[in-house]
Amino acid sequence: MATASIKEVARHAGVSLGTVSNVLNRPNTVAPATRQRVLDAIAELGYVRNDSARQLRAGQSRTVAIVVLDVSNPFFTDVVRGAEQVIEEAGAMLIVCNSGEDSARERRHLELLEEQRVRGVLITPVAHGPQPDLERLHRRGTPVVLVDRGSGQASRCSVAVDDVLGGHLAMTHLLEQGHRHIAYAGGPFSIPQVADRHAGAAAALADHTAAELRVATTTSLTVASGRRAAEELLTLPAAHRPTAVICANDLIALGVLQHLTEQGVRVPDDVAIVGYDDIEFAGAAAVPLSSIRQPREQLGRTAALLLLEEAEAGSAHRHRHVVFQPELVVRRSSERRRG
Ligand code: RIB
Repeated sequence: MATASIKEVARHAGVSLGTVSNVLNRPNTVAPATRQRVLDAIAELGYVRNDSARQLRAGQSRTVAIVVLDVSNPFFTDVVRGAEQVIEEAGAMLIVCNSGEDSARERRHLELLEEQRVRGVLITPVAHGPQPDLERLHRRGTPVVLVDRGSGQASRCSVAVDDVLGGHLAMTHLLEQGHRHIAYAGGPFSIPQVADRHAGAAAALADHTAAELRVATTTSLTVASGRRAAEELLTLPAAHRPTAVICANDLIALGVLQHLTEQGVRVPDDVAIVGYDDIEFAGAAAVPLSSIRQPREQLGRTAALLLLEEAEAGSAHRHRHVVFQPELVVRRSSERRRG
């Protein structure tokens, strides 16, 4: 149902358009009886102000958008919570868009956000490399900050974790536990975080000639993909079957744990598992998951602060690339093998 227009409200209340605008924006400048007549008309007609148009006229929107890869991934829930604290403290509002790891969907979101003239965009892009949609936003004066994605680009800020180090930490831990046949489960590798974590794990393995790293590439970073990766690994001949799996994120790790457990494979005695993110469900899993911790809320807060700084400073802003250090959290899923 279309909402009433400001003209219909003015006519219904028997006042001018300017009086209705004053009631909405400067209520103390309107006589109480007149203000109440206008408010009654707004309620009776169901008028809803077009905030984006008003904000546009005022020269700045009070809405910031964050575009996440997968809204069902608790990693992003924590990142959003951190960003939300900062954005709301600044008197603005954060809206969440989900790209679902789909570039076409991401592009549609960015086009709509550009039409809405949002104050800025926080985004974990689906792909790596040049981002023409983000360049266009930036040319229009809309600050864009990359989240959970490193970037050497001079045209925007970024906040990330050293994912190569994260993969290195996971592999070093498993090698120290005595594992020599290790798998990496994750994908698509077009997502830089997935590729970087694998690169770090492979680098840590390089010094161990007697060890091998096998990849079970997934089509998404979900629990279902983790289950499929575990299924694939169990088809390998016993001599090449991994005794440990590094997962690109905790959702993959939960899927691997679920399938192995269903197949009677003992974790960690038969197969150890290390996830990535250290979401709340990692520690709460039936076999508590070891994971590489990302400072999730801090990622969100820092990205939001950088964006507001740029929105206020404009061309005087100097872009920064903040990189946090990951941390290995050891739990039962990768404790030393017995015997
Ligand atoms: O951003 C890509 C992935 O990295 C997400 O799935 C999230 O889990 C993070 O670890």
